[in-house]
Amino acid sequence: MIRKILIVVTVSLITAIVSCNVLLPERFAINAPIASMLFGSSNPAPSSDIIDERFQVPEGFGLSLFATGIDNLRWLHTTAAGDFVATRSRAGEVILVERDANGDGQSDGTTVLLSDLKQPHGIEIADGWLYIAETDALGRVRFDETTGELSGSFDRIATGIPGGGNHWSRTIAFGPDGLLYMSVGSSCNVCEEEDPRRAGMLRFNPDGSGEERIATGLRNSVGFDWQPDTGDLYATDNGRDLLGDDFPPCELNKIEVGGFYGWPVANGDNIVDPDFGDGQEDRIASAKRPAHPFGAHNAPLGIAFVKNARVPDALRGSALVALHGSWNRTRKDGYKVVSLSWQPDGSITETDFFTGFLVNDEVVGRPVQIVEGIDGAFYISDDYSGSIWRVAYGESGSGNIQLGAPPTGDPLAGISASDRSGLVAEGAALYETHRCATCHDAAQAAPGVAVKTLVTLDPRFDIAKLEALFNTPPPPMPIFSLSAEDKRALSVYLLDMTATPSH
Ligand code: HEC
Repeated sequence: MIRKILIVVTVSLITAIVSCNVLLPERFAINAPIASMLFGSSNPAPSSDIIDERFQVPEGFGLSLFATGIDNLRWLHTTAAGDFVATRSRAGEVILVERDANGDGQSDGTTVLLSDLKQPHGIEIADGWLYIAETDALGRVRFDETTGELSGSFDRIATGIPGGGNHWSRTIAFGPDGLLYMSVGSSCNVCEEEDPRRAGMLRFNPDGSGEERIATGLRNSVGFDWQPDTGDLYATDNGRDLLGDDFPPCELNKIEVGGFYGWPVANGDNIVDPDFGDGQEDRIASAKRPAHPFGAHNAPLGIAFVKNARVPDALRGSALVALHGSWNRTRKDGYKVVSLSWQPDGSITETDFFTGFLVNDEVVGRPVQIVEGIDGAFYISDDYSGSIWRVAYGESGSGNIQLGAPPTGDPLAGISASDRSGLVAEGAALYETHRCATCHDAAQAAPGVAVKTLVTLDPRFDIAKLEALFNTPPPPMPIFSLSAEDKRALSVYLLDMTATPSH
């Protein structure tokens, strides 16, 4: 009996976590797209209907999907030829995302540059080198930006950097001083670190020598960039968890060499940390305060000052910041790109720039890093849908959202008419037995269920992509036990059922 109860409790807890909403005291609240956080991105990119419905960019900007289907996508860097280097951190891979040479509005494809790396994240390109930061090392390899090709071997030029733990990602960038900067997040939510380099920033000579610790007390500064006019270095920082929905704020910090930024003894405007702040008055008094607070748990990651991108005057001098979005909040928050503008009085204002990833607590994407393309557009990586978004000024007129996705051929073209009707019938029966309609058909929906009407699935899906979706369904859709044949029949049925009349 007790075993039975335990099993029921465990199963409901797992179901609750996977369906992203756990009823716990506020400070322990979990409300996030957990499956994608645990297993990497495998969610389909939003359809053009969903994009039209949900997404907003400022007037005069156009929005499109530049690349899709890149699982585990994280950081992004532009090459001089207009391609992009991207890291697929969980997959251990560095890839080239090719520029749109054929003019269809989308990347021409991806190729693998490096594999078998240890959580590669940060990317920098300089003097014919591609630099990659793994979780515990800095390495580089010869890279020809015009051809997008590597030569020679990937050499680790700085090793022994403390890696792994909660905040394993290492971001790198060359500063105006010609030194290579690296952020090293903390190993934990809140703790006293053993390695003093954790929760801080380092810098190196271009050959990896001369490691120097330049800032401490930064819990997890995933993104940083230099303000073009002043040369000042600004870094985002993720505030600690488990202190409630609205505290502490995440931070933008102006990084000064030797600066201490408060973690783990103080949060936000040097407010004493309840767990580690006792008796730490001197340390707290020496901490630098944030230049700007972001919402609690918003998780600011990439930051990019506007340099060469085409923008209206109102955005000149601004920085764009990707708010990856909360997990430790009863209601989700963040999940958008904001612009920061520096006011004459020194204050910083935060304004929405690109929204729609989160609507009514439902997530369809999570922005990570922002770069400028050589075409004057912004490109934004999204590790939830495995996409790169393109936001371009002056291409589509006033805020009209345009989609680059060209229609592809009929995904069922390879199947004979008789096979097709057999598979459709089989798929329809499976749709019935698994009661898919309880979530997907308003007429048959169970009470209280938010119905997700299945509309045209082609061209976002073909048979293989639908089969993959059944392996990792988007929450709250459950995982069904389906054989390979079942998955194929269901996929054919769904594509047939939702086909547009033109096929
Ligand atoms: C408990 C409710 C539920 C059940 C049962 C369910 N789904 Fe879903 N399904 C969803 C939700 C919700 C989404 C959308 C999730 C999102 O986009 O974040 C979805 C998404 C999908 C999509 C992708 C739609 C798109 O436009 O991106 C397909 C295809 C799909 N489901 C097929 C099925 C099939 C086939 C079954 C039965 C074997 C099934 N679903 C059962 C809730 C459910």
